Amino acid sequence: MSSLPTALPDATARIEVRAGNGQYTIDIAAGLAQRLPDLLDTIEAPKRRFIVSTPTVWRFHGERFLGVSHDDPILIPDGERHKQLATVGKIYDALIRAAADRASTIVAIGGGVTGDVAGFAAATYLRGVPVVQVPTTLLAQVDSAVGGKVGVNHPMGKNLIGAFHAPLAVAIDPALLATLPRREFRAGLYEVVKYGVIASRDLFGRVAADLSALFAREPGTLVPVIADSCRIKAGIVEADERETGVRRTLNFGHTAGHALEAVTKYRRFRHGEAIAYGMLVAAQLGVTRGTFDPADRDALAALIAQMGPLPAVADLSVAHVVEAAGRDKKVIAGQLHYVLPTAIGATEIVKDVTPAELSAALEAVGLRG
Ligand SMILES: NC(=O)c1ccc[n+]([C@@H]2O[C@H](COP(=O)([O-])OP(=O)(O)OC[C@H]3O[C@@H](n4cnc5c(N)ncnc54)[C@H](O)[C@@H]3O)[C@@H](O)[C@H]2O)c1
Ligand SMILES: [Zn+2]
Repeated sequence: MSSLPTALPDATARIEVRAGNGQYTIDIAAGLAQRLPDLLDTIEAPKRRFIVSTPTVWRFHGERFLGVSHDDPILIPDGERHKQLATVGKIYDALIRAAADRASTIVAIGGGVTGDVAGFAAATYLRGVPVVQVPTTLLAQVDSAVGGKVGVNHPMGKNLIGAFHAPLAVAIDPALLATLPRREFRAGLYEVVKYGVIASRDLFGRVAADLSALFAREPGTLVPVIADSCRIKAGIVEADERETGVRRTLNFGHTAGHALEAVTKYRRFRHGEAIAYGMLVAAQLGVTRGTFDPADRDALAALIAQMGPLPAVADLSVAHVVEAAGRDKKVIAGQLHYVLPTAIGATEIVKDVTPAELSAALEAVGLRG
């Protein structure tokens, strides 16, 4: 990996994304939060601006956003369990009380939960008002704020209610990550590793080489890593609007990952941690099939180990996880579609992974046989 180009410190980036109904810009820059009022004016965001955020995020960062709105921020309760219609209802209540009309913009400032809930409220209030996404977790900055999927959970399952509502703009300020707990930061970084494995050996190598600068949240290192991640996700999402099916490659690591989250009732893992295991399982499947180099599997395992501890899996039964994977929505006509790496930077979709193969791979990453 020594021949990989190292990232030039680059403190700003701008990415244009084509969406079904037009185009939007992702701006990435340290200190962008304080310049948000100017950015909103530049993109001609409708003038009544309503912030949706959470008490935690507002306590840490509210003062950076004081120039954005004359109205009080709409603060919604924090946490995945509040990602539900009742919370959307609270946003509607506040908007109606403030007589928000079509010339309004929702400014979602928070993690993926806030972006998904506020984005869904924006998609549906008055049949749709614009939303500007201001993600404040690494996961939201590299994943959930890009692509236009918004929605909430139902008691019967995650993300069952939703819409596509492309943002008017995405404003990413890596300085906001300074207050993010290390475990949350790491959870987002596993998704960055995912982008590296599916699309960019260069990105993968940079994460490995610059791990301590990343954990120190150095903007010069973070900005290009976030930018590459957004470019990869946006590129894949754009391509899928042309029906190539490549969006499924974003599910790399997510088949076993979702099954691990399900069998532990979403309590043990941060999502990214389950994906870390899921990537190891997919890598192992590729090695067993002879389509992935064991040295690349070892490089992935070494990077994940270097990033820090993962919750234990030794007590989890392979059979339970295989059964949960069989209930996944990636089962099409009885066959489990699986995204497998063919190199660091490339994947293939295979349709014939057997339960026995999956069991062996789960055992290889440490589950109970
Ligand atoms: N729409 C999509 O395409 C998409 C893609 C991936 C994930 N998601 C969704 O994203 C959600 C997960 O997002 P998440 O991981 O950001 O979780 P989250 O929104 O729950 O945030 C995690 C925690 O970090 C805290 N936090 C946020 N910003 C902070 C900051 N700057 N400093 C300190 N603490 C901060 C929050 O208060 C929260 O406790 C899930 O609901 C998932 O379904 C959506
Ligand atoms: Zn994910």
